Amino acid sequence: MTQPDSYTPRTVLVTGGAGFIGSNFVRTAIEEQRFTGGIVVLDNLTYAGNLENLADLKDAFAFVHGDICDADLVRKTLEDHAVDTVVHFAAESHVDRSILGPLVFTRTNVLGTHVLLEASRQRDIGKFIHVSTDEVYGSLGPDGAFTENTPIAPTSPYSASKAASDLIVQAYAKTFGFPAVITRCSNNYGPFQFPEKLIPLMITNAVRDLPLPVYGDGLNVRDWIHTTDHTRAILAVLARGVPGEVYNIGGLNEWTNIDIVRLVLRLLGKPESLITHVKDRLAHDRRYAIDPSKIRADLGWEPLIAFEDGMRQTVDWYLARQEWWTRVMTGEYQDYYKKQYFSR
Ligand code: NAD
Ligand code: TYD
Repeated sequence: MTQPDSYTPRTVLVTGGAGFIGSNFVRTAIEEQRFTGGIVVLDNLTYAGNLENLADLKDAFAFVHGDICDADLVRKTLEDHAVDTVVHFAAESHVDRSILGPLVFTRTNVLGTHVLLEASRQRDIGKFIHVSTDEVYGSLGPDGAFTENTPIAPTSPYSASKAASDLIVQAYAKTFGFPAVITRCSNNYGPFQFPEKLIPLMITNAVRDLPLPVYGDGLNVRDWIHTTDHTRAILAVLARGVPGEVYNIGGLNEWTNIDIVRLVLRLLGKPESLITHVKDRLAHDRRYAIDPSKIRADLGWEPLIAFEDGMRQTVDWYLARQEWWTRVMTGEYQDYYKKQYFSR
């Protein structure tokens, strides 16, 4: 094994820094005083972006309210703040929304990534981390796990748009020698996750004694990791990841959806009678599982948060922060919830 060179970022542009994982990354980097030149967050604050996620740290980073598809704004942001490093989280991230309205996924995830890459290439950025997902690999059968050599075979408009952006990033690395690294992580959970995703949706519904809508037979499998462990993996890739490479990130923690829902109910002391099986998601990927051997061996990263501890902390956070999730669930989210669940 060759030990990759170490890279020291100075000023880091974090796109999508007001979202679930991006805000965790910003928080961790600030708390650990990682970047001498500071952090610039670029985010256009969609329904999923919320500056409240970073309210207590608002003087510790610069914020630019804008769209990654806006080439002039992206160029100006890189220049004005003398950015030398980019960590790219900004995306439309929810599979169900990509089935209800796919076009914005191509716009943000494909075009937005390309605009950001091109502006970064022209400024000689020192390192660019493209935060992707294990969903680009498609669906697994009962055995095996995704490695970095698994062919990409996405099935939803969301995963297809992420896969398309991965290909453009890889083309930039090959053609121009652009110093981009791709990470592909499994399903994240933790505080500040928008309550449209499985775990926070089940917690916030159970707290209110609302039905818990499980798609199909509930036996689809996801490989769960705490968002802080994902952040730590990205920090390791930033420091020691080899440009042009892909790193899978996962905690060897597979669960069926129905078992996750039962765990949430147990942690909240709520009855299983709240579980309601509803019509399955279209083209619902059966199983995801990450083989994290490469990042473990080459970068020495491993997850630190045991799942039961992380879930207990997450449930406690949603119980304590009811005003946060009540606020983000107003307006647009109500329309989405009706479309997604009421006619199922
Ligand atoms: P999220 O939906 O919570 O946050 C996305 C953020 O991007 C929001 O702050 C939003 O306002 C911003 N954004 C959206 N469109 C934008 C645009 N055009 N310009 C600027 N900002 C824009 O997503 P998340 O769960 O934090 O995911 C972050 C990244 O990690 C995504 O790229 C996603 O594909 C990837 N990922 C997520 C998971 C997961 O389980 N959530 C797992 C693996 C990878
Ligand atoms: P989700 O959190 O949307 O993540 P992803 O689809 O990107 O893996 O969903 C996780 C799993 O939970 C997935 O198999 C779909 C299922 N699911 C439900 O059964 N009910 C729900 O209401 C939601 C949102 C998801």
